[in-house]
Amino acid sequence: MTTPRNSGEDRPAPAETPAGQDAPAPSGSTHASSASSPDGHGHRVAAMFGRIARWYDILNHGLSLGQDIYWRHRLVRHLRLPRNGLLVDLAAGTMDVTLTALRQFPDARVLALDFAQPMLARGRDKVAARGLSDRVLPALADGRVLPLPDACADAATIAFGIRNIVPREQAFAELFRVLKPGGRLCVLEFGSGRTRIWKGLYNLYLDRLLPMAGRLVSGDSDAYRYLADTIRNFPDARELGREMRAAGFDRVLWHPLLSGIVYVHVAEKAGDGKSA
Ligand SMILES: C[S@@+](CC[C@H](N)C(=O)[O-])C[C@H]1O[C@@H](n2cnc3c(N)ncnc32)[C@H](O)[C@@H]1O
Repeated sequence: MTTPRNSGEDRPAPAETPAGQDAPAPSGSTHASSASSPDGHGHRVAAMFGRIARWYDILNHGLSLGQDIYWRHRLVRHLRLPRNGLLVDLAAGTMDVTLTALRQFPDARVLALDFAQPMLARGRDKVAARGLSDRVLPALADGRVLPLPDACADAATIAFGIRNIVPREQAFAELFRVLKPGGRLCVLEFGSGRTRIWKGLYNLYLDRLLPMAGRLVSGDSDAYRYLADTIRNFPDARELGREMRAAGFDRVLWHPLLSGIVYVHVAEKAGDGKSA
């Protein structure tokens, strides 16, 4: 697998963890500069996902009644990848998007980036169990400072990750930077929890049921309270589209799923007069 080189002088080298080997810990030498290290918010988020990593998949599928599998499939359908193309899957977590993308594009190579080592470790095991380790390079990285050269990726995805990154603009700017001209970014994220859906039933689910179910299964109600809070404070689809345009993306479109509980945003980095 080709390993992207570092172009920015003050950018840290990628914390490479070829699938099948131990992913490095998220602190110390894997983050070569403070600019790449998660700050207070990032540390809390990384630690939280580290705590719930073992429950993450089961809770995801259970709390969405399996819908999350379909949502990732819808996300990946919007990808455009050339043969042997390089996909950056940011906030890859346990790598369900990575695996879904590889089903659709078996010859693709995926850089699975996340700053929570236990999430990546679980993903790496899933990738290895499917015999796909040679197609995936997991690496610890903060989405606000990607350890990648400019214009190296054919496409990028981020599923249920952008909500966690503060400030979002920085992640969008980085994704824009690392995409090749014509490359496509596909974002899967909850819609704003402030929008009343199903006469408020969904909002009740977010506020009450979700933290309770999260606590019962993982013993961590804070994590699922955090989930509800970030969804409630997330911008609506139009505003998110505006943020993506502000980062430089063109042709920003969005598609609601399940009455707007979830959205797929698709955007392109203009280039060469043709799309990816
Ligand atoms: C809800 S999970 C989503 C995982 C996966 N994409 C999926 O579809 O299931 C969010 C992931 O984003 C990661 N994350 C949050 N903020 C991040 C950041 N600043 N840089 C890198 N990863 C981040 C977390 O560690 C976590 O694994």
